[in-house]
Amino acid sequence: KLCRFLLFMVSFRVGQVSGADKYSRHDFPPGFVFGAGTSAYQVEGAAEEDGRTPSIFDTYAHSGITRGANGDVACDQYHKYKEDVQLMAEMGLEAYRFSISWSRLIPNGRGQVNPKGLQYYNNLINELISHGIEPHVTLHHSDHPQALEDEYGGWISRRVVRDFTAYADVCFREFGDRVRHWTTFNEANVFVQVGYDYGLMPPQRCSSPFGILDCQKGNSSTEPYLAAHNILLGHASAARLYQKKYRHKQKGYVGLNLLGFHFTPFTNTTEDIVATQRANDFYHGWFADPLIYGDYPETMKKIVGSRLPSFDQIESRLVKGSADFLAINFYFAEKVKDSPQSLEIQPKDYKADIAVELDFSVINTTQFEYPVNPWALQGILEYFKQKYGNPPMYIHENGQRMQRNSSLEDWPRVKCLQGYIGAVLDSLRNGSDVRGYFTWSLLDVFELLDGYNSGFGLYYVDLDDPDLKRCPKLSARWYSHFLKGGSQGP
Ligand code: NOJ
Repeated sequence: KLCRFLLFMVSFRVGQVSGADKYSRHDFPPGFVFGAGTSAYQVEGAAEEDGRTPSIFDTYAHSGITRGANGDVACDQYHKYKEDVQLMAEMGLEAYRFSISWSRLIPNGRGQVNPKGLQYYNNLINELISHGIEPHVTLHHSDHPQALEDEYGGWISRRVVRDFTAYADVCFREFGDRVRHWTTFNEANVFVQVGYDYGLMPPQRCSSPFGILDCQKGNSSTEPYLAAHNILLGHASAARLYQKKYRHKQKGYVGLNLLGFHFTPFTNTTEDIVATQRANDFYHGWFADPLIYGDYPETMKKIVGSRLPSFDQIESRLVKGSADFLAINFYFAEKVKDSPQSLEIQPKDYKADIAVELDFSVINTTQFEYPVNPWALQGILEYFKQKYGNPPMYIHENGQRMQRNSSLEDWPRVKCLQGYIGAVLDSLRNGSDVRGYFTWSLLDVFELLDGYNSGFGLYYVDLDDPDLKRCPKLSARWYSHFLKGGSQGP
């Protein structure tokens, strides 16, 4: 009942959003796609059902870091996918970005394919397609099978390259007749840093003072580099397989996703300006340089030295040019300060290699919400255009963090959508080859670190309701209005 009442309020208010005529869906080029996203562990639930085995995300969520919250049930999309696709269709969503749970599809990480896993993803994909919604699929969203982590340490072992490629092969073979957009890895740069240095994300490895709980089981000065190297090889190996074996028939694309940072110097001193370039190299160039140019940035080679694995000629050729597109997730901007003393404070820490301090002064820390800085998204798209020869780009995630139970009238999220979609349009007009925009997320999902305290969703999920009822927020109405051709503007 509450949901219905709030819904009434929301429909009443939505008319006020679409007053100014600034841009509309029709201003975007044909083929440009608008969608919303989720990831397997954050939304599916059914964690122990139908043969699925734990992933490193399950282990993380059960480690206590999210104070008892976990994704065992999450939004139960495993059982409610039809309802969710219906919501998407009603909203006018053109594409849905979701990820496949490797351990649902191949429970041991390699070998035997789970028929129930196959069936689930076939059902979901068919449901999307029959509603005219394009599936955009990610293969790894912080969740490789725990079995492989236990067996050989997951991404810190070269063995994962073969297993990941075999998993990708199954996905291309089984779903590739209907899926044309594949992303091998979500936020590769965050995964290696926060997962292998800070220990705050799966697989919670670290040896640095940032470590939490009992994550003192890694090596912060070497493992992030090792994992990143194997991720690049895993991505490239899967992408090359696609090119050779599937592309001619399936005509799809394989890319990689990074968290995009918009860095500006804290002051206009040479030191801060140089540190800003260094930050770009360490956060974006670490992956983008090998993918576009075949090698790590010079700054990284110099600073990290022998701890940075190197590409031999064959590997370099394998990696270079292996991404059909680069995708970024974008949430906020940072300022960069040169900070050489951090080298002395933490001589072995990964962050010391960066020797920059991220300054979050642009973020109002008294607020839970992220500030909306459309210029920053435009800036990062411009950076990729100039530095990497204007590659095809997707915005895979962008959105507003809010207290989960704050309000269905999520004006900050509406402002965020309005501003950032406008920034994408400006970037397109400035020549960036952007192909699509996905907001994060479709539903209030299980969040890394936050559990169910925050919500990024267009839809609220009522966790007290045994049926996990979904309620549209104002942002869902706004997005729908925009997708259906209504004009928008601040
Ligand atoms: C990035 C991650 O890809 C996603 O899993 C997460 O929920 C959002 N950002 C929001 O924190």
